[in-house]
Amino acid sequence: MIRIYQYLILEIYFLLVFCSGLIPRLTLRLDDLCLRVPYNIKEGHTVFFQDGAEKLFIGGTNYVLQVNVSNGHIMENFTLPDNRDHFCNKPSCGNTITVIDKFQNSMLVCGTNGGNPRCWKLHPKSSNHSRGVMEEMDGKGIAPYSYSQNSLCLTVDGDLYAAAPLYKEGTSLQFRRKAGSQTSVWMYDPWITEPTFITAFLARRPRDPVNEKMYVLFREKNPDSSLEADPWISRVARVCKADKGGSKRFFQNIWTSFLKARLVCAIPNEFLYFNRLQDAYVLHAEDWRESRIYALFSSSWNATAVCIYSLADLDHIFENSSFKGYNGEIPSPRPGTCVEDSKSLPMATINVIKQHPEMNQWVQPIQKTSPFYISNSNYTRIVVDRVKAADGKKYNVLFLATDTGKIHKFLEDGSEAFIISEISLYEHSAPVQSMKINSEKRQLLVGYPEQMSVLDLQRCQHYNTSCQDCVLARDPYCAWTENGCTSQIKEGIQNIATGETHLCFNSVNHVTRTKRDTSSSSPVPEEINHTVPMGFPFYLSCPIESHHATYTWLHGNDLISCNPTQSTCLYLIPNTNEGNYGDYTCQAEELDYKKIVKKYNLRSPPQSRSINIAFKISAQKHLLLTPFTLVIMLVF
Ligand SMILES: *[C@@H]1O[C@H](CO)[C@@H](O)[C@H](O)[C@H]1NC(C)=O
Ligand SMILES: *[C@@H]1O[C@H](CO)[C@@H](O)[C@H](O)[C@H]1NC(C)=O
Ligand SMILES: *[C@@H]1O[C@H](CO)[C@@H](O)[C@H](O)[C@H]1NC(C)=O
Ligand SMILES: *[C@@H]1O[C@H](CO)[C@@H](O)[C@H](O)[C@H]1NC(C)=O
Ligand SMILES: *[C@@H]1O[C@H](CO)[C@@H](O)[C@H](O)[C@H]1NC(C)=O
Ligand SMILES: *[C@@H]1O[C@H](CO)[C@@H](O)[C@H](O)[C@H]1NC(C)=O
Repeated sequence: MIRIYQYLILEIYFLLVFCSGLIPRLTLRLDDLCLRVPYNIKEGHTVFFQDGAEKLFIGGTNYVLQVNVSNGHIMENFTLPDNRDHFCNKPSCGNTITVIDKFQNSMLVCGTNGGNPRCWKLHPKSSNHSRGVMEEMDGKGIAPYSYSQNSLCLTVDGDLYAAAPLYKEGTSLQFRRKAGSQTSVWMYDPWITEPTFITAFLARRPRDPVNEKMYVLFREKNPDSSLEADPWISRVARVCKADKGGSKRFFQNIWTSFLKARLVCAIPNEFLYFNRLQDAYVLHAEDWRESRIYALFSSSWNATAVCIYSLADLDHIFENSSFKGYNGEIPSPRPGTCVEDSKSLPMATINVIKQHPEMNQWVQPIQKTSPFYISNSNYTRIVVDRVKAADGKKYNVLFLATDTGKIHKFLEDGSEAFIISEISLYEHSAPVQSMKINSEKRQLLVGYPEQMSVLDLQRCQHYNTSCQDCVLARDPYCAWTENGCTSQIKEGIQNIATGETHLCFNSVNHVTRTKRDTSSSSPVPEEINHTVPMGFPFYLSCPIESHHATYTWLHGNDLISCNPTQSTCLYLIPNTNEGNYGDYTCQAEELDYKKIVKKYNLRSPPQSRSINIAFKISAQKHLLLTPFTLVIMLVF
């Protein structure tokens, strides 16, 4: 009860203070050009695997599809053996695929197999094997028993690492090296409590392979179960790739390099913590120290946040922090150091790992005082792309999926978020099950329960109306050229840094507009005439394109501003009188750009024909307001 009350206060406070002003600039409509691959049945879980730029493997229930993402065609449809009990028809009895990965020169697929996890090696048509031939292996600890259980899988240099429960009840869920050329290694059970694994990755160090480490992001139950404490703690753990476990006598087949630290995403000054890690994306850099983790969190009061961490900061903590609960002298080699033969590590080093694997210091995001972005949208997935803009600089673009299936495209503008657009790729409201970025083809592949949708990241025609519209979008994939707003950005006009449009006037590409006076430079729309008799209600409408612009109606000396979160800006005339006749302009102003969106002229009907025209107008129902519809419109 106390907790709920606290959360409510937090929520109200939070909405007032942090959630103002960050709305997507544009709301884009789905069009027919969007590629989609429909599934035969509604899936509870799907998994994607990208093989090169063109091939995507989609794993569903009892099948794996191989799709050409250039045209959406299904290239192959692998049917998987169905070992389940014939009397069972429940979805949980099916074989839901949870793992697709390249492993030892073939495609490895693992699934729930009706509660008896198994793996298969697929041989594509092009190989010399007949298509049906598949090797099978036990999938326990690699795939879960049912898709609602947590699992993850990663293949690195011929080894397979996975986290999945060993038992049907979901117990013994931990991160292990399960198969491959190196020995199997697992965790010491007390190290984690009721974990949910989010992602795992290797940070490559080509010049120092012995020091290569794997990182695992997860959340676990907070050992502090007091009322004020959050139920979750988010973590990053680290193990050495070369770790073979301990010697025969001590810690055999158990990670000898496991360390974990708390991932903090918070506004520390306000004591607001986002403790529940939801999803994460790793943007790898050539130098592992510059790699970054984009982590999506949610909070106990249902807000979400994105925090960005640097791998260098993370390693600094693992290499320098003291060990939680350990006051002795730090043995040598320092616990967590990678060595060629972990079996010969001294007992003192392994003992610290065994008893005190947690770091005292917390991992803070790059921006220490607040998350990169906070929202009350319920985001569930995050991916990031790195794009070279027209000025040669690289920008990070984030894609966040909401629980209703919308995709928000963000520009990482220094320490600030700029939301370029919102788009729905699916007619229904459904959470996104899987999301992958295909940087090479500039596509976002989005998995919904009934289809896979492809979002083309360089659809610049959304901003094609003028140079200013193109530049204001601040979309690094698009620039203004002789051919309009296109993805051929090299010679184009762009201003990703600020979005200001003055560059549009200094350019040879921009033939029609040479004057500096912005208000007169944009194409002025044709004036629309309306005849309205005295005493009648009427309204004028103006479409709102950019939610970051201010829309204003000008009429004589009147100035009326609109709420930009709506989709149209209306000018309402409840009862037409003499003062309502004349010219109206609807003007949008954003940064240094002013544009006239609509122009109207309202006039009174000629005296003799007034009744006649009033009849005509009342036939045009969409233009007329009854007092009833007026009330409705004012309410909404
Ligand atoms: C995928 O489709 C594109 C466009 O239709 C085609 O050019 C390409 O060859 C296809 N790729 C494969 C691997 O079939
Ligand atoms: C394909 O397999 C058959 C029989 O296993 C073998 O005789 C043939 O040489 C193989 N072809 C290639 C191209 O490997
Ligand atoms: C958060 O969301 C959950 C699930 O929708 C709901 O049960 C809970 O009451 C919400 N909490 C707050 C503080 O709004
Ligand atoms: C942290 O540890 C690393 C590796 O052990 C060392 O090189 C570095 O100097 C340490 N940094 C600090 C601030 O102590
Ligand atoms: C957010 O979305 C997830 C996934 O659909 C859902 O389980 C959760 O209840 C949602 N939370 C809220 C507060 O609506
Ligand atoms: C964009 O506008 C230009 C004219 O400015 C036109 O030539 C071009 O076809 C348009 N492109 C798209 C994709 O609509």
